Amino acid sequence: AKNVGILAMEIYFPPTCIQQEVLEAHDGASKGKYTIGLGQDCMAFCSEVEDVISMSMTAVTSLLEKYGVDPKQIGRLEVGSETVLDKSKSIKTFLMPIFEKCGNSDIEGVDSSNACYGGTAALFNCVNWVESSSWDGRYGLVVCTDSAVYAEGPARPTGGAAAIAMLIGPNAPIAFESKLRASHMAHAYDFYKPDLASEYPVVDGKLSQTCYLMALDACYKGFCQKYEKQEGKQFSVSDADYIVFHSPYNKLVQKSFARLVFNDFVKNASYIDEAAKEKLAPFSSLSNEESYQSRDLEKASQQVAKPFYDAKVQPSTLIPKQVGNMYTASLYAAFASLIHNKGSSLAGQRVILFSYGSGLTSTMFSLRFTEGEQPFSLSNIVSVMNVSEKLKSRHELAPEKFVDLMKLMEHRYGGKDFVTNKDTSLLAPGTYYLTEVDSKYRRFYAKK
Ligand code: ACO
Repeated sequence: AKNVGILAMEIYFPPTCIQQEVLEAHDGASKGKYTIGLGQDCMAFCSEVEDVISMSMTAVTSLLEKYGVDPKQIGRLEVGSETVLDKSKSIKTFLMPIFEKCGNSDIEGVDSSNACYGGTAALFNCVNWVESSSWDGRYGLVVCTDSAVYAEGPARPTGGAAAIAMLIGPNAPIAFESKLRASHMAHAYDFYKPDLASEYPVVDGKLSQTCYLMALDACYKGFCQKYEKQEGKQFSVSDADYIVFHSPYNKLVQKSFARLVFNDFVKNASYIDEAAKEKLAPFSSLSNEESYQSRDLEKASQQVAKPFYDAKVQPSTLIPKQVGNMYTASLYAAFASLIHNKGSSLAGQRVILFSYGSGLTSTMFSLRFTEGEQPFSLSNIVSVMNVSEKLKSRHELAPEKFVDLMKLMEHRYGGKDFVTNKDTSLLAPGTYYLTEVDSKYRRFYAKK
C-alpha cells in the first residue's frame, strides 16, 4: 500500500461550555490568568448525558455516514483514551454494535492508553497494519476520545472534552512520511491517575511542563538526525510548513514552538537572522537543565519565534483554545483546526506533529498533504467537520452550573444504578447520549 495515512476525519465536542473569562472571575483568579496566562478562550465539558463512549459513538457514526463508508469496509478499529469507565472492557467494544448491525464483527484492535498519547499509539497501529502483510484491504478507523476534568484548583481551567474519528487507508490526502518519526519514552510522575475511585489525575503542574519540553527537545533531536541521515541536509523548522502540538493549553504551545526555534539557533540554522542571533546569544552557554528554568530565555525565544509562530503554528490553535485539553484528541483537534483553516491550500505541504502523554511517552512525526479525491479530499474533510458551525452553536453555562455538574459527575464516577436526566435539548440531532447505568454497571445509550 502506498501513501498510507488519513483519508477522512470527523470531530465531536460537547455543546456545553464555559468561557475562561467567566471561570477566571468565578475562581477568584487574577484577570487574564486563564485567557492570557494559559492562553485559553473557552472550555467544553460533558453534561450528565455525555461521556467518552457516547462521544465516540457520535464521531464514528457521523464519519461513516458523511463520507459514505460502508461499516463492512472497516477491518481494524483502534481507540485511544485515558478516561477509564471500565478496567477491562474496551471502549472499542462499545462501538461494535455500529458494525455488528451490518454483519461485520471481523474487526481487529482494542484500546490504547497512556495519558494523552493513546490516540497516537492507535493511529500508528492502524497505519502500520495497512502497511503490513496482515492487511486485508479494508480501512482502519482510529478514535481518540477523552473527557479531561481536574479537581478544583489551578489545573481545573485546563480541562476539555472531545472525540475524533480518523479513517486510515492507502492513497490518502494526508500521508505519513513513515521514515520521519522519532520517539522519547521515559519514567516520570508528572501526571497520573493512581486513584481508581476518582476521575481526577494527580498532577505536578510544573514538572509536567518541564517533562513536556524535555520530551519535545529529545524528539526534535532524534527527528532532525533521522532527516539528516535520509536527506543529507540539516532539518530546521523552515523545512516544515506547519507544526502541530499536543495542546494542554495554548501558552505551552507557544513555549514549545519557541523551544524548537532555540534548538535551531543552537545548531545555527540559516533562517535565524542576525538580530535574532543577538537576542539569543546570551543563552547559548546555558546547560540544558538551566535552559528549562530560564524565564529570560523563554521570553527572548518567544519574541524571536513570534512571526514564525503566526505562520506555522497559529492556524492549528483554534479548537484547542476553544474546547480545551481533550487529552488523546488534543493533538488531532489542533490538526483538524489546521485543515479547517487552510483546506486545499495545504496540498503539497508538510506538517510536523508532536504527541505527548505524561508518564511519559512522546513522538514527533511528519505528514504530507495532497488534495485527494472525493469523498476523501481536503475540501470535503473541511466541510464534513464543519468546525465553525459546531463552535458557534454551543451553549455557555454559568460557573455555578459547571461546578454543580462536576460534583454530580464526581459522585457518579464508578457508580451504578442511576438514570440520567435524559435532557437532550442542547444536543444536535444524531448525537448519542447516556440514559442509564443499571445495577450491574451496564451502560445504556440512545441516539437523538
Ligand atoms: N494575567 C496574565 N498572565 C497571568 C496572570 C494574569 N493575571 N496570572 C498568572 N499569569 C500567567 C503566569 O505568569 C503563567 O505564565 P508563564 O508560564 O508564561 O509564566 C501562567 O499564567 C500560569 O500561571 P502559574 O501560576 O505559573 O501556574 P498555575 O499554578 O496556574 O498552573 C498549570 C498552571 C501548571 C498549567 C496547571 O493548570 C496544571 O497543572 N494543568 C494541568 C497539567 C498540564 O496541563 N500539563 C501540561 C502537560 S501534561 C498534559 O497534557 C496533561
